[in-house]
Amino acid sequence: MSRARITLDRDFTIGEVPRRLFGSFVEHMGRCVYTGIYEPGHPEADENGFRQDVLKLVKELGATVIRYPGGNFVSGYNWEDGVGPREGRPRRLDGAWHTLETNAFGLHEFVDWSRQAGTEIMEAINLGTRGVDAAREIVEYANHPGGTYLSDLRAKNGHKDPFNIKLWCLGNEMDGPWQIGHKTADEYGRLAQEAAKAMRFVDPDIELVACGSSSSGMPTFGAWEQTVLTHAYEEVDYVSLHAYYQEHEGDVGSFLASAVDTDYFIESVIATADAVRAKGKHKKTINLSFDEWNVWYQRGLDTEDQPHQVAKAGWREHPRVIEDKYNVTDAVVVGTLLNSLLRHGDRVKIANQAQLVNVIAPILSEENGPAWRQTIFHPFARMAELAKGQILRLSVDSDKYENARFGGTDLVDVSATWNEETGRVALFFANRGLEEAADIEVALRGFDARQVLRAEVLEIPEGGDRFTVNTQGSPDQVGLRPLAGAKASGSELRATLPALSWAVIELEVIKN
Ligand code: AHR
Repeated sequence: MSRARITLDRDFTIGEVPRRLFGSFVEHMGRCVYTGIYEPGHPEADENGFRQDVLKLVKELGATVIRYPGGNFVSGYNWEDGVGPREGRPRRLDGAWHTLETNAFGLHEFVDWSRQAGTEIMEAINLGTRGVDAAREIVEYANHPGGTYLSDLRAKNGHKDPFNIKLWCLGNEMDGPWQIGHKTADEYGRLAQEAAKAMRFVDPDIELVACGSSSSGMPTFGAWEQTVLTHAYEEVDYVSLHAYYQEHEGDVGSFLASAVDTDYFIESVIATADAVRAKGKHKKTINLSFDEWNVWYQRGLDTEDQPHQVAKAGWREHPRVIEDKYNVTDAVVVGTLLNSLLRHGDRVKIANQAQLVNVIAPILSEENGPAWRQTIFHPFARMAELAKGQILRLSVDSDKYENARFGGTDLVDVSATWNEETGRVALFFANRGLEEAADIEVALRGFDARQVLRAEVLEIPEGGDRFTVNTQGSPDQVGLRPLAGAKASGSELRATLPALSWAVIELEVIKN
């Protein structure tokens, strides 16, 4: 049995939980849109073609803001192709994913779908093949009330009232050589600055995200952020981060410690942005938008849904692309990544798990068939539901384990929130120990714990192992079960986490 002693204090808070931390991502990629959220003719589809079974799961997931329409896709996308009468919309080659794009689903459909889902829109613009003109035009089309060519065109196309999209991404992964229209940091920084200016002339109230690095391992990481922000500091509000993690053969220890990289990545970007602020004598603070993150098995697979195999198979409409099946270990890692985001909620104000349905997603759906929850659905859904109010600063003294990539790493990872309105403290734990349960002792300074309202755990199911996944036939093999033995009284909480598990404990507290 390993041990972890955690101390929290009612007066030591990091800041309010930014609800946009529980974002997701819908890209025109694989089956995320087509046969994911949109499938006319499906028995569960409404008159718009929106799958209500998928929508129900999206609501249960609790995603708050959804980035659209890409990803790599957006860097070759003409937004105009997706508006107007469907029969007139062009079929195009999408070079990013080697797919035939029908444009049957576009901006209006996404707005309607988002309204049903109750989610905010985060719209990405194409700064790969396009530029300042298209950037300002899409803002006029979407947000201008009326009386101009583009805003009247929106009305003619079915939406008289403006969409009022607040959050905009200035391109996608422009640092990556794989990106259509990839740019140097100077080229991109200037373009982002000018596009931002032109977009704000149309709508001064929008919030803008500049592209940061596609991962902390990019050769340009650090220098990229510095150069881009040196050009565009005054014009943008956020800088983006993207990170994907996977288990490499024989090194589960490093995989389980992935959040150490997330912490490093976030803290390095904060330091870089603040250095640019100091050097440029700027007053405002740039916050972070972690607008793509997840577990993604990018290397070592040769299945037909891998991008190189998809490309070999020729141009097709919505083929299967990177439909990763997530196991118990992946869910524990996702829990730690969420903890890292929450612990940095004073500066990370937006985060989007990539993606929402089918493509490296918490939800899977079959064409003309059912939809179900992957293992990684559960930590996300619970945190989105319960992480409200103030983020608590924690002091953690945990036993450690050694791993190749990060050295000594805490076996127990944790984040916590306090909702003063409801009188609830929520704690989100991961036990990275593969063999050992973990004994947890939490000192709740400034609180008097009344009762454990909820204690749930995601662990290896009976008869399964750490690779167990949910399937169409067995969609609930891995899920949340009651966590036995969690006890809270006075200013102390005690619990035992099973080996390799993610757990949530919610307490009713009063201030003392
Ligand atoms: O989410 C899948 C892809 O990963 C996105 O299109 C791209 O932005 C990133 O490289």
